[in-house]
Order: sequence, then structure tokens, then C-alpha cells
Amino acid sequence: MQLQGKKIVLGITGSIAAYKAAMLVRLLVKEGAEVQVIMTPASKEFITPLTLSTLSGRPVLSEFFQNADGAWNSHVELGLWADAMIVAPATASTIGKMACGIADNLLVTTYLSMKAPVFVAPAMDLDMFAHPSTQRNLEVLRSYGNHIIEPAVGELASHLSGKGRMEEPQAIVQHLKDFFFADKNLVGHKVLVTAGPTYEKIDPVRFIGNYSTGKMGFAIARECAEQGAEVLLVAGPVSLPTPHPAIKRIDVETAVQMYEAATELFPECDAAVLCAAVADYRPTVQADEKIKRTEDNMTITLQANPDIAATLGLQKRDNQVLAGFALETNNEKANAHAKLAKKNLDFIVLNSLKDKGAGFSVDTNKVTIIDRDGEQEYALKSKADVARDIVSYLSRLLIVALFLFMPSQISAQELNATVTLNTSKVQGTNTEAFDVLRESLTEFINNRKWTEYTYEEHERITCNFTFIVDGYSDDGSFTCSLMVQASRPVFGSTYNSTIFKYEDQGIKFTYQPYDRLDFTEDNLDNNLTALIAFYAYIIIGFDMDSMGEMGGSEFLNKALNIANNAQNLGDSGWRAGSTNNNRYTVIDDYMNGAMEPLRLLVYRYHRLGLDTMFKDAEGGRKVITECMNLLKEAYENRPLAYITKLFTEFKQDEFVNLYSYEGGESEKREVVKILSEINPSQSDAWDKIEKSAFK
Ligand code: PMT
Repeated sequence: MQLQGKKIVLGITGSIAAYKAAMLVRLLVKEGAEVQVIMTPASKEFITPLTLSTLSGRPVLSEFFQNADGAWNSHVELGLWADAMIVAPATASTIGKMACGIADNLLVTTYLSMKAPVFVAPAMDLDMFAHPSTQRNLEVLRSYGNHIIEPAVGELASHLSGKGRMEEPQAIVQHLKDFFFADKNLVGHKVLVTAGPTYEKIDPVRFIGNYSTGKMGFAIARECAEQGAEVLLVAGPVSLPTPHPAIKRIDVETAVQMYEAATELFPECDAAVLCAAVADYRPTVQADEKIKRTEDNMTITLQANPDIAATLGLQKRDNQVLAGFALETNNEKANAHAKLAKKNLDFIVLNSLKDKGAGFSVDTNKVTIIDRDGEQEYALKSKADVARDIVSYLSRLLIVALFLFMPSQISAQELNATVTLNTSKVQGTNTEAFDVLRESLTEFINNRKWTEYTYEEHERITCNFTFIVDGYSDDGSFTCSLMVQASRPVFGSTYNSTIFKYEDQGIKFTYQPYDRLDFTEDNLDNNLTALIAFYAYIIIGFDMDSMGEMGGSEFLNKALNIANNAQNLGDSGWRAGSTNNNRYTVIDDYMNGAMEPLRLLVYRYHRLGLDTMFKDAEGGRKVITECMNLLKEAYENRPLAYITKLFTEFKQDEFVNLYSYEGGESEKREVVKILSEINPSQSDAWDKIEKSAFK
């Protein structure tokens, strides 16, 4: 059910492959998606609306107005409703209409109104598919950011065999899943990419150039944009359209122009990938007029072009990542290593013209990524897939660079967390992974802005996240328990008062060194960051409850939302009802109206009690004793709630300190009575208070 709750508009056009749409709808529904089918009039010749409405559980839309009552089928609303649109099968005609904006049916009008990503699965005869018109239209759709699901090679309706068969429904669903679960590792980063050849003018009609088409560099630019980066693409003379709407393209012709653009833009970028095949030399003199044939031999004197990579290598700051390419024909690795060092690159992508299917012009490439620590060889792949490998390498280095060269003066945020990993139970495993995880987590918790408020350095809430790692394997899977503890200073004292403490058991997550830790409220795929965000909001919420009566609702509700959304994760720690002290129940109990007395207690205890104690010990303690009645009230409202018991547990030492030495006998007895009723398991601690009453 990986597509649970996703809203999909499925556009079906008039192709024999329309019969596969029935299977596609079934698979999408099986994955938990809501599917709204839109058919072009021609598609109804191939499959009936009845089949599709039965499978999707929704009436199929086809006309602008409904025949029965004339109601408008709003393409605009569908464009806003959908999480994705798939056009499958997509005929040459519909692809052409989409490329040119010919909105003469509901499918194309919906496409033009679509706010969500669009996937297009072409289906047609091989010659139609290969025709430059179709190919150009597909390029146009790509340049709009649409995802083209390439047709497969096989037998076609025409009984010819070739490329044009619509991809199988399973593969289309997989594309969709890949998209929804794709890495977005470059969000917030700016990446410079150079691509294509340069042309060095000899005279007005001739130039020195090379065979680069720009395909490799454009694929890298597209992948960076797909992963959320802002991309600046400096392109030599190529005939490719800009492959993604989020790319800013700067067209140049010569190496000098490329040099000027790249050196100007690099300082504002976090990374650069230099894929262009830059001419090393240019004619010293460019003739104004066409050079006439005279002698049998002629000589053109060349002068060196600036080396863009080497210049950026000199400019590079510690927190920037610089990657280059090496196109070699011999001594490949030695040459690549020499370029890596000479140009001060962080890594270099080697492709050799000796490898079939690699290098210029072709749609595939075979590369080896080399950095100072080693190298990794990759198989022959499409340039899109090679780009994915390169960008994933790049994003890992970017995290390291940001991490190692983070400005030491971080801005004060809400939490001042210490993360500890107790790994004694898994000794002998790769400890680098633990160190990196600890540092990444510390950075994630401390540098994220969890609220829109400004916290001064001294206002930050001190908290400890202590993981006891019970299991770890090299694929990055962890099993642990976690102790979360948060406290804040008591006004005018050196004493810290605990505001939340909880031990969480059986946590499972995966983490590979340098995985980017990020969290968005609607994406809980990363169990680790969802968990940390949950506790961050609880800590902030409890802290705000201690500052003002019920002051933390906004953030406690965020924690509740995460717990609600996370209940579908396989991890039982989130599930309501699985035990009475799981994460969900802890927050759900606290936010329940019956717990209002406890929330008021959190405020009165800290602000009126502990803070008063600084000036007037007796007065402050009396306020706290009165607060105990609020605790009792909360307990009586919901005797089974775990949160009241939890509160007595993490405040236990504080209570013992407060009452062991000060306070009247009846006061102490009353307190012990309440605490023992709520939490008899801590009787040893309450006995200490009881005994002090007789001193
Ligand atoms: O565009 P395609 O048809 O898809 O082909 C892709 C490609 C083969 C062009 C690409 O994969 C590739 O290998 N690009 C680099 C080609 C090249 O010029 O390599 P090089 O070994 O000569 O240069 C080494 C590095 O220095 C490159 O990153 C290059 O961009 C850079 N360089 C070179 C010369 C120069 N004056 N300035 C530079 O920045």
C-alpha cells in the first residue's frame, strides 16, 4: 500500500494498449491510491468506461459537461486535487496536443491545469515513435518537467517489432513509487552544471569543436533539479531543450564565454559538476572574412583557453564541492587521477572512448567515479541513470562538506541537545557509522528551526537523547531504545527542573553514513527523523506549557499529528492501543481534555512554584503542594492514563528533594497519599518522604 491516499488522475487515449489501463487502475487501487479516470473519446473504442469506473470505483470522466444534468467536469479542480497525473497509453496525437496546448478534450484541458507531476507512457507504432515530430514533442514535454516513461521494445499491434509498446502497468506503478519515494537530497542547494561542447571560431563559417551533444550534462542538471536543487546550467551550443523548469540556463558558445559565466556563478553555488567538453585551445586570430583556399597546407595558430575546472578549483571554498569529468582514450585512470589533483576536484567522473556505448552522443555511458580515497566503477547505463549515480555521490559529499565546515557560530535555536549512542552491545561493528550518525543527529536537532519564535542562546531547552543500540547491521539498520530527557533552569538557581523524560523501546530505523536527515510533516518515511521531530515538539510543547497556562498546544498538536500519521508505520511504538505507554498514547493522553488539570499543573508547578521558591522557599513549596491536587484531579479523570504516572516518575527525585527536608507532616502525608495512589511502583521513593515526616 505504498500509494496509500495518493490521488491519481489517469488519462487514457485511443490506443490498442488502452486495454492495459484496466490492469493499471487495479494495481493503483491495490496500492491504496484513489484513481480518477479521464478518457479521450477515441479511447472508448478500445476499452469501456464501465470497466474502468468499476475498477476505480469512480465515474469515468470524458466530456466537459455531464450529459445527465449538464454539470461541469472541472479540469481545474482535478488539477488541484491530484497528487500525480498519468497519461497511459499516450498516443502520438495526444502527446502532440499536450506539447502544443491544443485543449480540445477534457484530458488535455486537465493536463494544462495540472499542478501535480505528470507521467506520460507513450504507445504507438515504432515509426511513429521514432518520427522527429513525436521525439520533438516528447522533448518539449520533458522540458515542461513531465516524466516520460519510455516505451518498451517488442511486438506491436502492427505486427512489426520495435520500440513503441506501452510500458507494462507494473513498471508504470513502479515509476510512480520511485517518484514519490525518490531522494530529495539537494533541496536548498544550488548547483552549477556545465554541458555540451564549445565552438572556437576560425572564421565566420568554421570553428573548432567536438562531438559533445550535451546529453550527459543535461541529464545531470535534470537529476539535480529533480532532487530539489536550484540548477544553473551553462550550456555550450547544443540542440537540447532545457530539461526541467527549475533549471536556469545560460547559453554560451566559446570556452572563454563558458569560463566567464562559470567563474561568476560558482561563488553563489554549493557545488559544480563540469561536464562540458571544453576546447583546450582557440585560434589566436579569428578571421573576419571566410578564409579562401590558397596553399595546399595551411597553419592555424592556437592559444590556450582558460581552464575552467582548475580556476574553480582555486576559487573553491571548503564547503563547496567541485566535480569534473575526464574523457580519455588511453591511460584512463592515471590521466583521471592527474586531473583530479591538478584541478583540485573533489571527484572526477571518468569515461573512456574505449568502452562501447560510452562518451559522446550516445544515450548511455559507462563511468568510474574517482576521488582521493578510491574509485567506484559503474556498469553501462542510460545517461539518466549515470546522472543519478553521480548526483547521489555529489549529495553525500555535500553533506560532509556542510558538516565539516559548518560555521562555528550556529544561530541559537529552541533545543540544545546532546546525542549519545551507547554501542557497547554491538561492539566490533563499523564505528564510523555511529560517529557520523551521532553528529548528524546533533546537527539535525540543534540547527533546525522547530518554531517560528526566536530563542536566545540562554533560552534553549537542554535535552539529552540517549540511544542504546541493541542491534546494528552493515546495511544501516538499527534497533535501539531511546531515553529522552529535557530540562530547564529554575529561575535564579543553579538547579534544572525536568520537564519531560521518557524511555522509548524497540526503535527501528535505517541510516547510512551521510544520509541527509530531514523531516517534513507529510513524509514520515524516515522513522528516525519522524521520531526525533515527535520528541522535539513534545519537549517544546511541555516547555511552553510550563511558561503559560496550556501554552504549548500548537507544538503538542504537531506531535499528536505525527503520532497519528505514523500509526501506519510498521513500528508498534506508534500504534494506539498496542500498549498503554506507547508514543501515541503518551501524547494522546496529555492532549485529552481530561488532562487539563495536569497541564495547568505543569504551568503552576514551574512558574509559580519553583520560581517563587527562589525568593520564598516555604511559599514556593506550598504552591507545589497545592498543585498535587491538580495531579490527583487529572488521575481521577482518567485513572488509566499513563501520562500522570509518567509525570510522577520523572519528577520523583525532585519531589523527594522538595519534601524530605521541608514541609509539615500533614502536608507530606497528603503528597505521599496522592503519589502512592497514582504510582505505587515507586513506593521506595515515596517512603523517603513519608519517613521524613517523622523526623
Ligand atoms: O555531451 P555528450 O554527448 O553527452 O557527451 C558527454 C561527454 C563525453 C562530453 C562527457 O561525459 C565528458 O566526458 N565531458 C568532459 C569532456 C572533457 O572535456 O574532458 P577533459 O578530460 O578534456 O577535461 C577534464 C575536465 O576539465 C572536464 O571536467 C572539463 O569540463 C574541464 N575543462 C577542460 C578544459 C578546460 N579548458 N576547462 C575545463 O573546465
